[in-house]
Amino acid sequence: MCGIVGYVGKEDATPILLHGLQKLEYRGYDSAGIAVRNHDSDSLVVKAEGKISNLIQKLNQMDFHSTSGIGHSRWSTHGKPSETNAHPHHSDDFNVIGVHNGIIENYQELKEKLIRKKYNFYSETDTEIIIKLIDYYYKKYKIGPIDAINKALVRARGSYALAIMFKDYPDQVWFAKNGSPLIVAKGENGCYLASDVPAILKYTNKVYYVSDLECGVIKENDVRFYDLNGDDITESKKITVIDWNSDAADLGNWPHYMLKEINEQPKAIRDTINAYVKEDGKLDFKSIGLTQEYLNKLDEIYIFACGSAYHAGLVAQYAIEDLAGVNVRLELASEFKYRNYKMNRNSLAIVISQSGETKDTYEAMLKAKENGVKTLAICNVKGSTISRSADFNAYTYAGPEIAVATTKAYSCQLIVLYLFALFLARTNYKLDKDEYYNLINVVKQIPNKVEEILNNQTSVQRLASRFVNKRDVFFIGRGIDYAVCMEGALKLKEITYINSNAYAAGELKHGTISLIESGVAIIGVATQPELIEKTVSNMVEVKSRDGSVVALTIEGNDVEKASKYQLYIPSFNPHFMASLAIIPLQLLSYYVSVSKGIDPDKPKNLAKSVTVE
Ligand code: AGP
Ligand code: GLU
Repeated sequence: MCGIVGYVGKEDATPILLHGLQKLEYRGYDSAGIAVRNHDSDSLVVKAEGKISNLIQKLNQMDFHSTSGIGHSRWSTHGKPSETNAHPHHSDDFNVIGVHNGIIENYQELKEKLIRKKYNFYSETDTEIIIKLIDYYYKKYKIGPIDAINKALVRARGSYALAIMFKDYPDQVWFAKNGSPLIVAKGENGCYLASDVPAILKYTNKVYYVSDLECGVIKENDVRFYDLNGDDITESKKITVIDWNSDAADLGNWPHYMLKEINEQPKAIRDTINAYVKEDGKLDFKSIGLTQEYLNKLDEIYIFACGSAYHAGLVAQYAIEDLAGVNVRLELASEFKYRNYKMNRNSLAIVISQSGETKDTYEAMLKAKENGVKTLAICNVKGSTISRSADFNAYTYAGPEIAVATTKAYSCQLIVLYLFALFLARTNYKLDKDEYYNLINVVKQIPNKVEEILNNQTSVQRLASRFVNKRDVFFIGRGIDYAVCMEGALKLKEITYINSNAYAAGELKHGTISLIESGVAIIGVATQPELIEKTVSNMVEVKSRDGSVVALTIEGNDVEKASKYQLYIPSFNPHFMASLAIIPLQLLSYYVSVSKGIDPDKPKNLAKSVTVE
């Protein structure tokens, strides 16, 4: 949500800031702006509502050479999207100019204090208040930027990543963080600030992750970090070298990131498998700290996640219970944090998050930690907040995922979870050696099977045209197929705006079947041999009520009579079927979105990384 960038260095700041904002567009935003400054401390603030291209158009009419600056793409929380509310915000004399990601919860109380001190406000944002509070302390106590920032932030409640410029310090950009993501990077031609790695990858792959309650400054050749007391803690900070190359975040010749990422799945899955399956064919989770002694003691497993990551957790629930015989409690992270649930200490909490920054997921994780439960993070972004706080990290190797609708990261999450289930099953002696190696080999076949489905897209493309005018789509399935339905329905609704919902097929007759009438589309997912007959019967039930049924099933399964349209995928081991069944549903969502003239990479109101509650 929202993007922050900052730069100080030898180059002209404006193009660097704009490039960074464009690379962060995937996070979702409604307006954008930059503030730049030259050596003489003259500053320029330019903002525009809507796309970053509107901001670029405005900037094209100006001629201002700058060596430092900050930029922001705003995802409004306080105050409607408008040019006035867009960031950067500034004190009345432009002494302090800043951008902010997050929410200052006690903004009202701080505003009243500042009004008493004769401050005026021009916007409806919480951000303007924090910027003016910094200005207030800076002037009142005649202190330096770090002390002024810290004084203001100990009075602020909420979440923030801030990039700030002070008039008295040209060629320096100050920063602070609590709860919202922020990285600092050092390159040959300057230093950078950003909400996420793609913004700086063109210039450098050496980054520092800013931790909560840290602040600091970037200069042309230097980065300094400070704690809340104002003590210099730079020596304790470590540089992380990002192993994504700069092309990985580029669109290349693809029309959209989503299509690019769907097609990258065979490679992403292969890379993820190779990270855990060693040359001798054995699985390696020991090197991330998961030992046999520890795993043998587990009474149960918790899984916390949101959105698609939760759907991956749903598949994992089946895989872990079926293969390893350990009970799994799957919880929506956004709900679990409100529960007074007493967690079992002899358990492991698996936390799944592509970004590693989802606030709800992070908070559920903290709750597990408070309960003395160890945490295993399955994140795609190394060094993200969740991965830094976890006891164990099993990364996915999907590379940067830009499209708001996750595809390749979800697929890689499934792989890590399958392999973990197999590792646990072997540790618990639930699988004998032969079964174990055999199943690892089955997982290794997934990339080729996915490739096969991607090479046969015609029937999905043809089907997409039939969905363009649909208002409601129901997905039905049982067991793992139900988990696939949940993810398929989310994909469809988030990028096509069609009201699509998933139901456990057995639940239809408990209510939803009353909604079935002519014109309603139903996608029945039936890939689990033991459950196919039952789901097919449900398809027949809706077909006989004039519902238009699409059956997604395995080759050789006769569903012609139960459905109007059929999508076939190769037959495969049922434990891992979700990895294949989701592919046609991702493609269907993509093609329906494009046919409706929607940009699938940037669906309305959604952000890639949800760093607010
Ligand atoms: C997926 O397509 C969605 N955009 C969304 O549900 C996402 O999976 C969810 O917000 C969780 O994100 P995370 O994996 O980064 O934690
Ligand atoms: N709360 C701030 C606003 O509404 C920042 C929102 C954001 O993170 O973009 O302007």
